[in-house]
Amino acid sequence: MKALILVGGFGTRLRPLTLSVPKPLVDFANKPMILHQIEALKEVGVTEVVLAINYQPEVMLNFLKEFEAKLGIKITCSQETEPLGTAGPLALARDKLLDGSGEPFFVLNSDVISEYPFAELVNFHKSHGGEATIMVTKVDEPSKYGVVVMEEETGRVERFVEKPKIFVGNKINAGIYLLNPSVLDGIKLRPTSIEKEVFPKIASDQKLYAMVLPGFWMDIGQPKDYVTGLRLYLNSLRKKSPSKLAFGLHVIGNVLVHETASIGEGCLIGPDVAIGPGCVVESGVRLSRCTVMRGARIKNHSCISGSIIGWHSTVGQWARIENMTILGEDVHVGDEVYSNGGVVLPHKEIKSNILKPEIVM
Ligand code: GDD
Ligand code: MG
Repeated sequence: MKALILVGGFGTRLRPLTLSVPKPLVDFANKPMILHQIEALKEVGVTEVVLAINYQPEVMLNFLKEFEAKLGIKITCSQETEPLGTAGPLALARDKLLDGSGEPFFVLNSDVISEYPFAELVNFHKSHGGEATIMVTKVDEPSKYGVVVMEEETGRVERFVEKPKIFVGNKINAGIYLLNPSVLDGIKLRPTSIEKEVFPKIASDQKLYAMVLPGFWMDIGQPKDYVTGLRLYLNSLRKKSPSKLAFGLHVIGNVLVHETASIGEGCLIGPDVAIGPGCVVESGVRLSRCTVMRGARIKNHSCISGSIIGWHSTVGQWARIENMTILGEDVHVGDEVYSNGGVVLPHKEIKSNILKPEIVM
């Protein structure tokens, strides 16, 4: 089977991290977002992943080359010269997706995290005889998503409404699809929205089905949702492979520490923390609900909560970093500095307090 991952867009909502790498390469739980997806696709028997991309394909491909060999999966690019939306890229990649087998193929939004129940999706798709299956999940605030109205028993989709202004329901499109090759016949090579044009049409032909996604789900394309997503991910890891989580007297709740990271004496870490490869956490540090990315150094007695520390940044001694502070790559925060929601661009040095949420250029 094959899969296409939609990797377009500039990831503006995840700046300053996306000033250093394309959104799908931003680390989540100690590895690039897109690797979580590629690994799960490989597990269900996908042999080729096509990245539908509209800028910086070299950065992506260079990075993923290593994993192509490691995972034994083919990764190719389909590059747009203009953004083709969420359906146009399928027409562009048509020849790559059709291999003559008649098999359905996966399509994924690149910024969603879940347990990726792909095997269940394939089984359900084969059982209903429709043309396309989308995974759906329940959320409290459906207006930012595509909303699906479906027949509970069969899963047949009656309506698909993208970003509805009035309430239609609380089951939303999770950005994970399995499509028959015939779906490609209805998509033209021009900027097209799969949510606004393709799904409503298949639904009106009564050939669109939805499956409620078991387990957690989150679109991690915004800092607040990214931090929530980490909590949900670690929760699920606790159930599935608890041995991957850190343990000890210095750990509270679910904490992921890369094997090459070091943690000093007298720290208190957790809940919901990810500490990436090569990080150095010195002594007496307090970390909760935060991500510390590859190569960062957190100095003695600092305290970080609800924040993201970008690659190779340093946080000074007795510093206090909180309230959705995001440090881009290679940011250096001085000793005793306080940051309340600062969003700091890459390569900056912060010597004075950031008292309210603001962008530091
Ligand atoms: N190649 C390519 N070209 N990819 C694109 C383009 C484009 O022109 N535009 C967007 N994408 C990719 C994004 O990178 C992302 O992976 C996916 O398409 C969806 O775009 P978003 O910008 O993240 O959309 P959204 O989050 O507002 O809404 C979508 O996702 C929701 C779930 O998170 C929709 O699919 C909603 O229906 C859905 O509920
Ligand atoms: Mg999104």
